[in-house]
Amino acid sequence: MCGKPISVDDPDEPGWIPVCDLSRLKAETIVRVAGRDLLVIWNEGDVVACERACPHEQADLGLGHVAEKRLFCPRHAASFDLRDGAITAGWPGPPLRLYPIRITGEQIWIEVPERRSVR
Ligand code: FES
Repeated sequence: MCGKPISVDDPDEPGWIPVCDLSRLKAETIVRVAGRDLLVIWNEGDVVACERACPHEQADLGLGHVAEKRLFCPRHAASFDLRDGAITAGWPGPPLRLYPIRITGEQIWIEVPERRSVR
């Protein structure tokens, strides 16, 4: 599920970073983006990009799992709707932040507003 992080660097595309190709994502389901606190997820035929830290208590969602269009946190098992980021009903905390993606050929891109901390 969580292979080695990928590197990103594309000065010609400000705001958009290349993350990985579709075949890798289909094989791994969840890919961590090196140097960014982001994940890209294969969700039943759709590609979703989101923040890596759980909005509840900051667990690493890269260690979670995906089922039935939801991302499940590995720490307390709350889950997030991968269509809008909504957290499981009854759980405190904001929704999961999602990011725009685009796909050119086999390449997946994520639009990020600013540089985030490095892991
Ligand atoms: S840290 Fe993710 S549900 Fe609590």
